[in-house]
Amino acid sequence: MKLLDKGFFITIEGGEASGKSTQAKKLFKYLDNKDYLVILTHEPGGTDISERIRSILLDKNNLGMCPLTELFLYFASRSQHVYEVIKSKLKEKFIVISDRYHDSTMAYQGEGRGIPKAKIKEMNDFATSGIIPDLTFLIDLPPKIALSRLSHFDRIEREDLEFHKRVRSEYLQLARENESRIIVIDGMADEETIFNEIKERVLNLIKSNGVLNE
Ligand code: TMP
Repeated sequence: MKLLDKGFFITIEGGEASGKSTQAKKLFKYLDNKDYLVILTHEPGGTDISERIRSILLDKNNLGMCPLTELFLYFASRSQHVYEVIKSKLKEKFIVISDRYHDSTMAYQGEGRGIPKAKIKEMNDFATSGIIPDLTFLIDLPPKIALSRLSHFDRIEREDLEFHKRVRSEYLQLARENESRIIVIDGMADEETIFNEIKERVLNLIKSNGVLNE
């Protein structure tokens, strides 16, 4: 088992059907095969309680859900996830890979729903005890192309194209504001090209922070 000096927190972000979950799984398998202590998790969800919140959030029967209820449920899911999984695994020096995290809330509830971003930022800090990823991959794809890949639509995916375009523009804005953390990846590239870029960046991050034994 390769022991690291510290835990690493890696998040994968993007709009609907961007291919990010496939990449998150590939990264997990790769690091696991290389004998790193690694865990793959996701939001909303990642704990029993958070999974129950997830089903309320995505249930297409809950069309009457108001934007603030939606926001607070994402935060409720996140707080539990940070408390139960992320904090403890980082302490145990795991590489934690999360398919979505706090940037999703800025993009979807901030720009998508129009909730003031300063408030979201403040609440994100509160809900996560200020834990931010070491590295974030943003898989960027025009929503029109991405949505055409879907055959079933949950409550959020059902939103119109303009909503998804706002989400994308906020993600790109976040990437400009957090250049050293967020790496934008062209989601139009093929799966292996995308994965190679992610893998190289992650290995560089790990190497630059040292492995205690191999
Ligand atoms: P998933 O499809 O990647 O599992 O994500 C579930 C949906 O939840 C997706 O439509 C994006 C949305 N979402 C938000 O709107 N805000 C958030 O904070 C998170 C984590 C996800």
